[in-house]
Amino acid sequence: MNLLCLVFFMSNRSPRESVDAVLAATKQSSRLYGHGLGMIASENIISPNVKRAINSDLHGRYAEGLPGKRYYQGCDDFDTIEGIGIDLAKKVFQANFANIQSTSGTVSNIGALKALAKPGDAITAVSTADGGHISHARMGAVGLRDLNVSTYPWDEERMEPDIDGSCKLIRDVQPKITLVGQSVFLFPTPLRELADAAHEVDSTVMYDGAHVLGLIAGGVFQDPLREGADVMTGSSHKTFPGPQGGFLLSSSEDETFHRRLNNAMFPGVCSSYHLHHVAGKVVALAEFEAFGQAYASDIVRNAKAFASSLAAEGFEVLAESRGYTASHQVLTRHGEIDSGAGASAAKKLEDAGIITNMNMLPGDTKAMSPSGLRLGVQELTRVGMGVREMNEVASLYARVLLHDEDPKTVRQDVQHLKSDFQHVHYCFDSESLPAYEGM
Ligand SMILES: Cc1ncc(COP(=O)(O)O)c(C=O)c1O
Repeated sequence: MNLLCLVFFMSNRSPRESVDAVLAATKQSSRLYGHGLGMIASENIISPNVKRAINSDLHGRYAEGLPGKRYYQGCDDFDTIEGIGIDLAKKVFQANFANIQSTSGTVSNIGALKALAKPGDAITAVSTADGGHISHARMGAVGLRDLNVSTYPWDEERMEPDIDGSCKLIRDVQPKITLVGQSVFLFPTPLRELADAAHEVDSTVMYDGAHVLGLIAGGVFQDPLREGADVMTGSSHKTFPGPQGGFLLSSSEDETFHRRLNNAMFPGVCSSYHLHHVAGKVVALAEFEAFGQAYASDIVRNAKAFASSLAAEGFEVLAESRGYTASHQVLTRHGEIDSGAGASAAKKLEDAGIITNMNMLPGDTKAMSPSGLRLGVQELTRVGMGVREMNEVASLYARVLLHDEDPKTVRQDVQHLKSDFQHVHYCFDSESLPAYEGM
């Protein structure tokens, strides 16, 4: 049986029906988010002009190498795009080096690990149980590069690496790479202290800003490249409001080091690097230059307001002693450790049209039955919601999770609230295309 027959047999759909099913599902997904509240901390929506760029003919094109040094012909226009993008990324992140080719945060990390260490070298990182990303662990990119990882002791009260214990670990292990940054990222990393310890033992400091890159660029979280990070990686689509992709940035002025980073991306980990997404990233960088500061500070203001409103409704919100959050994220606990209460809360909220994800919290040991939720307000901020709406959203959560109201009834009010927030803000030509529609 050839592959086409096998696919036909397995899906029991004609090719035409498969196409129709996919297009119908994309529309349905737009409807879900258009009528609902997208609150997954790693997600965002893109502006009309970013959509136009990623929907361009560049989708089918190739460019290997760097602007002006290509293997393929036909790249002059794309050279213009990537050249503008490199300049803008350096400006927006105040970096001495920027590579904008990475196709995701994970690919940025793989590239950085390749540039900065050899197989068998030591690395220190935040454990996945404490909120580190899988690419920082043996099961992910760190394992792929065959690095030996030691994890920092964690301060559960402050939700950050324990400073004294982590500095001691760095001095004892003398890692080739001191990796910091997490997926659960409420507060800035105490970077200066860790970077000082790292530089004493000639370790390169790598800051993974995947989640908080938009807040960093907006000047409202921390400034890793001036606090001791040698390299910063990140996604272009979480708080940074671009299309799916990544960045590789550095504070170093050493051109040999820049070459090493560029080579790690190509030919290291990318061949074609999704030129349409790079074009979208460049539009997002330009829009960020114009609107990013207001966007970033509105996110943090909204996250603080949302956390306080949830606490006032009666939810257990983590990190109360530090004011709950200094980022786009808020953490809530919904039952005993390892009880799976986070999973059932996420399901009930989905029934009400509120899209979230369960998350492990301090003490949880089972990834699939954690006690908590990790919530993000960046998407709601981007469609124009403010503090008043954050209070309303918290009361919708309470109706579903604390007062046992039928999620289907609450869903009507979710839809009503969302109907006033249908355009992307903090961008050019906001009204020219609804937020949740394709081109
Ligand atoms: C800290 C951290 N690094 C890297 C990544 C991977 O980013 P991407 O999904 O763009 O590959 C994530 C994803 O959530 C993350 O949280």
